Amino acid sequence: MKKLIIGTRNPKKREELVKLLEGLPLDIRSIEDYPGLPEVEEDGKTFRENAVKKAATIARLAGELVMGEDSGLEVDALNGVPGVRSARYAGEKATYEENNRKRLKAMEGTPLERRTARFCCTLALANPEGLLFVVEGQCEGFVSQEPKGEHGFGYDPVFYLPDYGKTFAELGPTVKNQISHRAQALKKFRERLKQFI
Ligand code: IMP
Repeated sequence: MKKLIIGTRNPKKREELVKLLEGLPLDIRSIEDYPGLPEVEEDGKTFRENAVKKAATIARLAGELVMGEDSGLEVDALNGVPGVRSARYAGEKATYEENNRKRLKAMEGTPLERRTARFCCTLALANPEGLLFVVEGQCEGFVSQEPKGEHGFGYDPVFYLPDYGKTFAELGPTVKNQISHRAQALKKFRERLKQFI
């Protein structure tokens, strides 16, 4: 069976991606199975640039098929910030809690109707010769007034979905994996992947 390396070092993202790739005739590997591979710097201006860089670099070095992923939250009232800098919003080594606190502080006094935001996910597939394709997924919601819920990671406790009346962190993985930005991108990814396996 062909190998597919999931090219992200974020264990929570990897967990979601492995679940979303279930059933495909592929031997799914983690980047952590290849200890010699370097950290790929996320210096792109867009999710796409980062996802493509990660997929192409790792595929070339590992000699395998690689999925590169980049994702983050765009908040309309903050002109799309933090976007590609989602992981480093409150500083280079910021924790999820620090990022969430900074986010809520920046939006203090903003009414719910102006707290619109979206999670974006870009997935790129590359083989050792180069990029094969790129797909994107988005999930629309609101930045909540306070963090709620225990599931997930990152901005999940402050991402509120009005149709469910809950944050991603309250909803949990089963619902999140049906509607999230990553799930939307994965649906497209599975379709495109058929050409290559
Ligand atoms: P990366 O791991 O450097 O790509 O950073 C992406 C950042 O975006 C993560 O560290 C989270 O802060 C945020 N993010 C991306 N996807 C999600 C998600 O599904 N839930 C919550 N936060 C997310």
